[in-house]
Amino acid sequence: MPPERRPTAAEVRAGFIEFFTERGHRAVPSAPVFPADDPTLLFTNAGMNQFKDVFLGTGKRDYTRAVDTQKCIRVQGKHNDLEQVGVDTYHHTFFEMLGNWSFGDYFKRDAIAWAWELLTGVWRLPKEKLWATVFSGDAQDGLPSDEEAERHWRETTDIDPTHVLRFDRRDNFWEMGESGPCGPCSEIHIDRGGPGSDPADGADPRIGVNAGNERFIELWNLVFIQFNRTDGGQLVELPAKHVDTGMGFERVLSLLQGKLSNYDTDLFAPIFGALSERTGRTYGAGDEETDVAFRVCADHVRAVSSALADGALPSNEGRGYVLRRLIRRASRYGLQGLGMSEPFLHELVPSVAEVLGAAFPEIPSRVDHLRLVIESEERSFRKTLERGLVQFEKLAGGHAAGDVLDGREAYELYATYGFPQDLVELIARERELSVDAEGWEAARAAHSEVSRSEGKFRQLLSAEELTGLEPTCSTYHEPGPESVELRTRVQKLLVGPEGDSPRRARVVLAASPFYPEAGGQIGDAGDLLDLEGNPRMRVTDTQKVGEVVVHIGELEPEVTSPEEGQEVVARVDARRRTAIRANHTATHLMHKALREVLGEHVTQQGSHVGPDRLRFDFSHPRGVGADELMEVERRVNAAIVRNATLVTTVEDPQQAKARGVMALFGEKYGERVRVVDVDGWSTELCGGTHVAAAGDIGPFLIVSERAIQAGVRRIEAITHERALRHIQETRRLLADSASALKARPEEVPERIAQLVGQLKTARKQQRQATGVDVAAELERVRGALEERAGAWLGALDVPHLSSDDLRDLAERVKAQVPDLALALFGRDGDRVPFVLVCQGRPLEAGLEAGELARGLKPLIGGGGGGRPDVAQGQGAKPEAVDAALDHLRRAFAGALG
Ligand code: SER
Repeated sequence: MPPERRPTAAEVRAGFIEFFTERGHRAVPSAPVFPADDPTLLFTNAGMNQFKDVFLGTGKRDYTRAVDTQKCIRVQGKHNDLEQVGVDTYHHTFFEMLGNWSFGDYFKRDAIAWAWELLTGVWRLPKEKLWATVFSGDAQDGLPSDEEAERHWRETTDIDPTHVLRFDRRDNFWEMGESGPCGPCSEIHIDRGGPGSDPADGADPRIGVNAGNERFIELWNLVFIQFNRTDGGQLVELPAKHVDTGMGFERVLSLLQGKLSNYDTDLFAPIFGALSERTGRTYGAGDEETDVAFRVCADHVRAVSSALADGALPSNEGRGYVLRRLIRRASRYGLQGLGMSEPFLHELVPSVAEVLGAAFPEIPSRVDHLRLVIESEERSFRKTLERGLVQFEKLAGGHAAGDVLDGREAYELYATYGFPQDLVELIARERELSVDAEGWEAARAAHSEVSRSEGKFRQLLSAEELTGLEPTCSTYHEPGPESVELRTRVQKLLVGPEGDSPRRARVVLAASPFYPEAGGQIGDAGDLLDLEGNPRMRVTDTQKVGEVVVHIGELEPEVTSPEEGQEVVARVDARRRTAIRANHTATHLMHKALREVLGEHVTQQGSHVGPDRLRFDFSHPRGVGADELMEVERRVNAAIVRNATLVTTVEDPQQAKARGVMALFGEKYGERVRVVDVDGWSTELCGGTHVAAAGDIGPFLIVSERAIQAGVRRIEAITHERALRHIQETRRLLADSASALKARPEEVPERIAQLVGQLKTARKQQRQATGVDVAAELERVRGALEERAGAWLGALDVPHLSSDDLRDLAERVKAQVPDLALALFGRDGDRVPFVLVCQGRPLEAGLEAGELARGLKPLIGGGGGGRPDVAQGQGAKPEAVDAALDHLRRAFAGALG
């Protein structure tokens, strides 16, 4: 008999979606894994996240059944522990959750019947291996057992009735957070068997279902959302009952492909292939250390790639910090387990694009950006690792064999340098030291606060406060005066919460002209007035919770507060709004101009549109040159003077994208989207407020451009009145400078150059008088440079030179040697001034002067820093100069080795 053909990952994924679309479900795209518009959630951790407003009753969809595969990341919390991922064969940080939903439509019977039909009828999983669980009830909440679900299992499916088990709230009551929608759930588990297994084992609480083993694994969770848990902990029956299901895609795929582990499926094979090619090692060849490293790298690179493709970036806090930890953990496993002494993770990105691209096209379309960010992050981690070792030496210094190192201090090696506990313990053991585990654990617990938000939805209004509120009717897009002013009714007034000023309030209106913060545009400010025109509340910010707009601000003192049900006038600060509109439209024009001038790889990474300025972050591998910036500025101003009327249409997002309208990565678009078109030149999906015609923007000026991260640049710009003021101030500055120099404005640069020249000559004469011959020093330094891999390297002690001399000398060497890594140490009394230069090949190889200068502090004290190409500083320990020179020589040679 020919072997049975196993379905591919793409087929299984598509089969799930098709099964439910055939049953009336709308196939929806995955929400971003990095929920840019939801600061309350670290990462998307369940398929239902994007529907939380529907469950909370603050949002609606124009369908009642949905299906999708959702990109999820879980790194910490009750569901996952990062340190476990890769060590076993079934934990992941990144996974896809297949889900189907009913919003007040079908309930337990259909959810159970369809799940069973798909698993056993379509996918033909063996019925005798499947187990179902239902909720056994809870005395504290006064909830009976879920007889209804149990009955449906027995009556609508042909599951073995002894395979339906009851479990308590820990396993079978699903809650979104401490408050909010929740309900009993019914899980489907599969017995993967094993030697000596008995079909009845599933019911054995020690080895069976929910006993936490690799034999019985949970496949699918069917949640029946039927209650709301109030802030006080009470359960209130919901008027509408919903279904929320989630199935681990990787798990079900491994079963359907007849594999024991998720890592053996075709979702991982190409990544393992790329890793083998790069490392020369093979997965599954019997070496456990290699296998763990393979799994860690493959898992983490999937997680990081998907988050970066959605617009996240590594950083030192929150989500970015998690990404940083993932890259570091994978890099370290690569170093220790696979012998990868150089950054290599970025080379796996194309294989990730291959396995995830069909479902998530944002990944293949950003491969270059992902590679750049991952590589530079890994490179800087390798440097951090070196510094961490220096730090360890300091921690261990002065301790004798047998001593215990302070756990809190040791934890810093993890928090700051990414050294995990086992590595710290290993290095400690090598020196016959140990680490105080309790102190480590206490520090870890304190540190984990960042990830606490996982699975919880803390928001501006709690589920209870939201209960009964109607969606706000927003009028900011209306053409008439109601875009900024409206007579309306107070739906809800909330003063506090406790700890805030007693006049701090949140107000929900029936209708509102206030724009709530979204898509980078900040929320409107303004006033709520009574019908006589007396101010009652000063609104300083506006936010959105589902479809409810919340006005946040201070109640006016000495007047009565607006009451619920009362009519008020909501008046937006129109002048502020006008400035915001100018900045927002200018952001679109600049985005377009950047893509024209720099290339189509430019994509928005983030933006902030306020009344005073606009900030735009975008992916681009290098600094933007002065000429390029001027060209961008010119094109934007050219579009402004063409003065085209803005055309806004409301369209289907997929159709708009198909006709080339710019959409942003990581943005979740609704069913209908606004397309903002300026002159047919810039067309972008956007819900923000814009000028009526481009000319309303007034002058547009770029005020700064800088890197915020490898591969990501930030431009700040101003428009309108602010830009005009800037032009006037700059002109005044020029006039003042000219008059100080007694020159005409156009002569200013020449006069300054002359003065600088005179100053240099004067300094030189002074030095000659004091005996330092810079020309001779230059020759000496050049002679001492050593060549390596096409670059010239030197770390030299020149104790007879002062800090001015050092700078001068370094500048000269810099001007003459294009591929240079140079460090010079002088003396100034008992201080040690130093200068570092990295340019050309050394810079490309990852050596950065600023970073090297900062890294010297643990060695020679004092401080230092600067740019990647030039840095300087002052050490405090002349006796440590030799160690510093050694350290730098090693760093230079290491990078160019
Ligand atoms: N929300 C449930 C879960 O995350 C089912 O999708 O398990």
